[in-house]
Amino acid sequence: MDKSAYPGARLLDLGFGDCRNMTLLKNCGFEIYGVEISADTVELGYTTLERLGIHAQLTVGSNTHIPFNDGFFRYLLASSSCYYVDDGTCFDDSLKEISRVLNPGGYLIANVPVFVTQPGIPQSFILQDSKRLNDGHVSITNDVYGLRNGYTFRAFSSNEEVESVFGRYFEDIAIGLCMDNHYGVQINYNIICARKRLESEFKPSNSVIPDNL
Ligand SMILES: C[S@@+](CC[C@H](N)C(=O)[O-])C[C@H]1O[C@@H](n2cnc3c(N)ncnc32)[C@H](O)[C@@H]1O
Repeated sequence: MDKSAYPGARLLDLGFGDCRNMTLLKNCGFEIYGVEISADTVELGYTTLERLGIHAQLTVGSNTHIPFNDGFFRYLLASSSCYYVDDGTCFDDSLKEISRVLNPGGYLIANVPVFVTQPGIPQSFILQDSKRLNDGHVSITNDVYGLRNGYTFRAFSSNEEVESVFGRYFEDIAIGLCMDNHYGVQINYNIICARKRLESEFKPSNSVIPDNL
């Protein structure tokens, strides 16, 4: 990516959490926007930003409801967030919404959980005992932190699956694989960098809302 294009470019930090990425984003020169799922998190975010001396516009929304106009952003960062699937929706709905707010040729930088098959590498803690639903969706049942049980996530089994799913809306898809062990807590994920396709290139999706059967 061309770092000289960062200063002044609009970037959305989708699911910004505790604002941990905001200092990096500020140092890169982006015009920063953030979306989180609750007003409390947005309020806490503003308190944190004030302490850090960072200016950003934070708003309530979610992966399938991003309250910005079509093509508003040049960059969208979804750091451990885009795979949270809103009730009554499927991951494709989130990807469609993410691509809607990006301008054509705009960049998505995201990570998603992966199922590993490498010998000796444990499954991610969050996926252990999860219940497989359809189309790669999983219901989380055994979050050791007790925060995400009952949530639906989207997890991936191969680079080909990532390319096929993200490829409906994105091109130039680069995929990295990280298998981290944080003092006994295993986290395996793909890091994805991709560019939004031109409107005429979108491929129809046949995804369905995950069921619990
Ligand atoms: C693991 S945290 C990551 C936070 C931050 N992006 C980071 O890198 O540390 C996941 C974040 O996604 C947010 N989240 C959960 N469900 C979401 C949804 N449906 N749409 C958007 N964000 C969501 C959570 O509130 C939480 O802050």
